[in-house]
Amino acid sequence: MQRVFITGASSGIGAALAQYYAGQGAALGLVARRQDVLEQLRAGLPHPERHRLYALDVNDHAALTAAAEDFIAAGGADVVVASAGISQGTLTEHAEDQQVFEQVFATNVLATVATFTPFIATMKRQAQAGQRDLRLVGVASVAGIRGLPGAGAYSGSKAAVISYCESLRVELRASGIKVVTIVPGYIDTPMTQVNHYKMPFLMPAPRFAAKAGAAVARGSSYQVIPWQMGVVAKLLRLLPNWLYDLAFSKAPHKARKTKG
Ligand SMILES: NC(=O)c1ccc[n+]([C@@H]2O[C@H](COP(=O)([O-])OP(=O)(O)OC[C@H]3O[C@@H](n4cnc5c(N)ncnc54)[C@H](OP(=O)(O)O)[C@@H]3O)[C@@H](O)[C@H]2O)c1
Repeated sequence: MQRVFITGASSGIGAALAQYYAGQGAALGLVARRQDVLEQLRAGLPHPERHRLYALDVNDHAALTAAAEDFIAAGGADVVVASAGISQGTLTEHAEDQQVFEQVFATNVLATVATFTPFIATMKRQAQAGQRDLRLVGVASVAGIRGLPGAGAYSGSKAAVISYCESLRVELRASGIKVVTIVPGYIDTPMTQVNHYKMPFLMPAPRFAAKAGAAVARGSSYQVIPWQMGVVAKLLRLLPNWLYDLAFSKAPHKARKTKG
């Protein structure tokens, strides 16, 4: 039976991935801060008795490591998905946004590292024993491909996730563990439901999860979903800075929480 550990499982992409993998018969380890929401999710999944819940903050690395160790002790892990993440508008000129930058980088980048770390030694042993479907899955964003105005923290954090996962992928190349970078475009989740601007190619979370699950199973190194956003992402990379700056200077900004 496949064993899948997912952070950010109480909502959106993480919850949709939980539904997807549980539907395939997997045993899950589900991480998020809201215990009640995790319990509701588990109750609605096939074989609820198979799934373990870990109500914790991914910025508490000791708690995250203890959860990983508990899940490993119960039978190891085949797929680890770091989906916990936050998105908030920021402007560097506001001193109070410094703490938002810190929270966003901690949750989106450093907690991704802390999610993977406790699994690697055991997964290496599983690979040496002949297992071939071992995956560490980072969740980046199309927002990490070029810096979006008003989203310096989020864009910067997701660019870091893309580069970090690439480093890890090459480091682990000979180990038998595959590192998969999933790059969502706009997916219909509570994170995007607050946006008051047009979101091209917006995709329902269950469809996204099926496509991401297939990319993970293939061992794809880097997958933008939906594919139309993959084309946009490639074009964005090609734009010279002067043209990018002109085109994006009036792009809509994600709201800042802090005032000033
Ligand atoms: N939706 C999109 O269009 C989109 C696009 C690109 C990338 N992404 C990325 O996809 C991932 C999931 O986003 P989503 O759209 O599913 O957002 P979401 O619906 O807001 O879900 C975020 C999840 O992260 C968890 N989380 C946040 N901070 C946490 C913390 N400190 N400790 C533990 N869990 C934490 C939340 O659980 P609790 O609140 O219960 O802790 C929740 O389960 C994020 O990394 C996001 O950046 C999303």
